[in-house]
Formats: sequence, C-alpha cells, structure tokens
Amino acid sequence: MPVLRPLPTQGAGRLADRYGRVATDLRLSLTDRCNLRCTYCMPAEGLDWMPSAQLLSDEEVVRLVRVGVERLGITTVRLTGGEPLLRRNLEGLVAALAGLEPRPVLALTTNGIGLAGRAEGLAAAGLDRINISLDTLEDDTFARLTRRRRLADVLAGVRAARSAGLNPVKINTVLMRGVNDHEAVSLLEWAMAEGVQLRFIEQMPLDAQHAWQRQTMVAAAEIWARLDARHPLVEDPADALARGSAPAELFRVAGTTHTVGIIAAVSKPFCGSCDRVRLTADGQIRTCLFSRSETDLRSALRSGVEDAELAGIWIAAITGKQAGHGIDDPSFLQPDRPMSAIGG
Ligand code: 5AD
Ligand code: SF4
Repeated sequence: MPVLRPLPTQGAGRLADRYGRVATDLRLSLTDRCNLRCTYCMPAEGLDWMPSAQLLSDEEVVRLVRVGVERLGITTVRLTGGEPLLRRNLEGLVAALAGLEPRPVLALTTNGIGLAGRAEGLAAAGLDRINISLDTLEDDTFARLTRRRRLADVLAGVRAARSAGLNPVKINTVLMRGVNDHEAVSLLEWAMAEGVQLRFIEQMPLDAQHAWQRQTMVAAAEIWARLDARHPLVEDPADALARGSAPAELFRVAGTTHTVGIIAAVSKPFCGSCDRVRLTADGQIRTCLFSRSETDLRSALRSGVEDAELAGIWIAAITGKQAGHGIDDPSFLQPDRPMSAIGG
C-alpha cells in the first residue's frame, strides 16, 4: 500500500498539500550568484545570472515572508542562494525579517566565504542559526572541488560563527567518490575538535552539467560504515523523537557527546514528512527541490494585489506538491533550474 495517499486539503491559512503535509519551513533564495564553482553545482564558467530586475527587492521579500508568517503558518525561514552573503544588505534584510510578527526562526545556509567579518553582525541583526557548506579540509581538494582556493576563508568563517554564538554551527558536507570521500573520518574528527555538528548529505542530481550518477554516489550506508569503523556510532534514542521532519539522521559518537548527521536524501527519501516550501530569488514558488513547474508569485506581487490574494496563490501552489522526488524512478527528470538557482 502506498505510504502517501491523497487527502482532501484542509482549511485555509495553512500550506497543506493533498498528502496531509503542511509546509512551515520556507527556503528563501536571495541570489543565484556564487563566489565558488563547486563541481556538483555549477560549471567552471558559472551560469547566466538572473537579471537584477527579476530579483525580488528587499521590500518584496519582506512582504512575501510577512504574508507567510502572518497568514500561512510559516515558522522558519532559511536564507539560501547561490551564496546569500553576496546579497546586498543581507544584515538589513535579516533585521527586517526578525521584526515580523510572529517572529520566524531565521537560519542561513552559506559557503562561509566572507563570514568571518559578518557573523557577529548577522547574529546581532537576529540570525538564529547557520549551516556552512564545507566538503574538504585539504587545500588542494578544496581548490579542485570549488575551483577557488578559499579554504582558509571558510575555516575562519566557521570560527567566527561559533564566537558569534550561532550555535550549534552545522557543517554540510557532500562526499564525492574519488574526490573527497577519503576525508569522511578526518572531517568528523575536525568537527568534534571544533565543536561543530557535521552533516553528510548524499549528492543529489542537481548539478547544472547533469553529470550525477546514482552508481557512483557515496550513499548514506557507506558513509555510516566508514565513520563507524573508526568511531563507533550509536543511534541517539532522543533523535527519532526530536527529529520530527528534520532529514538528518543523527548518530552519537560512542563515548562522547558529539553527534553526526547523515542525510540520505536519495537512498532513504524523507519526502513523506517534508515541511518545506521554496521561494526563488526571482519570486517563484517551488514546492520541491525537484519540481518541474513553479508558481509565479512575483507577477502577482508586482501587479499590486492584496495580501489575501498572495496567500491564496501560495495555498493553491502547495496543493500541487508532488508526493516525492522519484529520483529512483526510471522516468525521473532533473529540474531545469540548477541548485544555485533554487536554494538549498
Ligand atoms: N547534492 C547535495 N547537496 C548539494 N548541495 C549543493 N548541491 C548539492 C547536490 N547536488 C548542498 C551544498 C550546500 C547546500 C545548499 O546544498 O553543499 O551545503
Ligand atoms: Fe556556490 Fe553552493 Fe553551488 Fe558551491 S554548491 S557553487 S557554494 S551555490
């Protein structure tokens, strides 16, 4: 029997889909630009960036988030990119979002470049949490993987985030076979020494070059086995309860208080408990990373409609949310937008 069965959508005022899931976590992309060129995300030459007239202005972003928190039950807003630190006036935007009622929890996913000088200011503006992407601790591997030699900047950013009190600082790591998969254990040891929480994410087919292959993906079970062989991992009994809809399966490193997350986005999809909705930098609602269609909220916004109408468009968009990503389905098609233009 299928786990997910369509249900009638219940009640206005919530972003409920046909499968009984309710979106409360908004992933807001603030720019599609980036100062790195991670091979699993972008080609070396970068991409054609969105023209700035298409990007939502700060005022437009704040208005849409306000509609989300006031009328639609959004409780968490994660700012993403591209690289969100490249967005002009990010601190001002964070402060404006922190002023909304009810105040959403504010999180940021960043590659950490330039964070060293900004973590303090972001925390002061109201940022609550941070995820920093870091796939390697080797200078040369970093340069190969991101096509930029900026490892030291990222490490400085991690420390600054800690000192700014953005704890627990989470580190997102994507392992790629033959590139950085030999570093699983050293990354964990580094994270324990730094007092940050490492989370491995299975690589998903979201690269602009369409080079992803299921067969070579480093899967969660393999990551677990590599870590466990050196540092035995124990299931955290509190985790299952605390996890709710969070996708990271958390393990405790035996004999310590450190935890490590493994996000089996491909091999063990968590679509059934997904509570996310995405808004791209150009104001398109995406109900899934892998959606093949979008809902244009920007045009409605710019045509001068009332908040209630914006909320209605958003609610209607959610009813079209797909049951799952279907990566393992032979008919799976990668989304047209690459990750950098969707937001992580
Ligand atoms: N698969 C998995 N994670 C990815 N990220 C970017 N592209 C992919 C992909 N294809 C991660 C980045 C960052 C977050 C936004 O998503 O490493 O941590
Ligand atoms: Fe930039 Fe993130 Fe893409 Fe790397 S994965 S190129 S840091 S947007």
